[in-house]
Amino acid sequence: MIKEKTLTTMFTEVKKYLEDKIPYKPTMGVILGSGLGSFAEIVEDKIIFDYQNIPHFPQSTVKGHSGRLVVGKIASQEVMVLQGRFHYYEGYEMNYVTFPVRAMQAMGVKNLIVTNAAGGINPEYQPGDLVLIKDHINLMGANPLRGANISSLGPRFPDLSEAYHKEWRQKGLAIMKELGLNPREGVYAAVSGPSYETPAEIQFLKTIGADLVGMSTVPEVIVAKHGGMNVLGISCVTNYAAGISKQKLNHAEVIAVAEKIEKTFVRTLSELIKVMA
Ligand code: HPA
Repeated sequence: MIKEKTLTTMFTEVKKYLEDKIPYKPTMGVILGSGLGSFAEIVEDKIIFDYQNIPHFPQSTVKGHSGRLVVGKIASQEVMVLQGRFHYYEGYEMNYVTFPVRAMQAMGVKNLIVTNAAGGINPEYQPGDLVLIKDHINLMGANPLRGANISSLGPRFPDLSEAYHKEWRQKGLAIMKELGLNPREGVYAAVSGPSYETPAEIQFLKTIGADLVGMSTVPEVIVAKHGGMNVLGISCVTNYAAGISKQKLNHAEVIAVAEKIEKTFVRTLSELIKVMA
């Protein structure tokens, strides 16, 4: 685990690095999940950073995640878009998994949209559906806030009783309707991966109230809430979760489905950003 002092220094250093190079004051952050990276193309007046050049950012190792920070404007809002994220299953400590959120916090970001590819547990969901995250269940066996609390970043015991901004969810559902999509909301269960679940595990997740399953997002949301941000979450259902259909799961299929609905995803996300302004 990273020591409190080290984390504070990392925070200060990334803040200095980004502030020196970014003439914007971004208030909105977006984290793009597997196969959903092309959203960054609609950012105007872009400044692009490879993760490898940003102090303390780890390198992304997963296919479908390119590892770039794109800063610029969308619908006259100044935004920071993370194209590629760090997963716990890659072996990173939680402090590193969530460090990009701290970088956003350092830059003054107040509103965060997190996106991911997820398996559909709810029998009404089909591959290709977009689902707003209503709440989450953390089954990763780890919490990014474990360890000494840095009180300048947030409180020891942050409240998560409304982790996903209710008003934005309502606006999101209305936008989905307008765009001719099924307005869907669901509970996202986060597991550590990287193996996909067994059918028995999916039955368990269903029983405890999960509609979606994935291997990301929740650590970032916990840190964002700790840092005082408002959060909106969107899952792209890329597959039926294990045992929901007879099909076997593979990462290539997950990426292919995410890429197929990328256009709809980009459209939905840009409409959402407009109403979140
Ligand atoms: N399980 C876990 N993570 C996932 C899945 C899944 O079925 N699909 C996309 N990410």
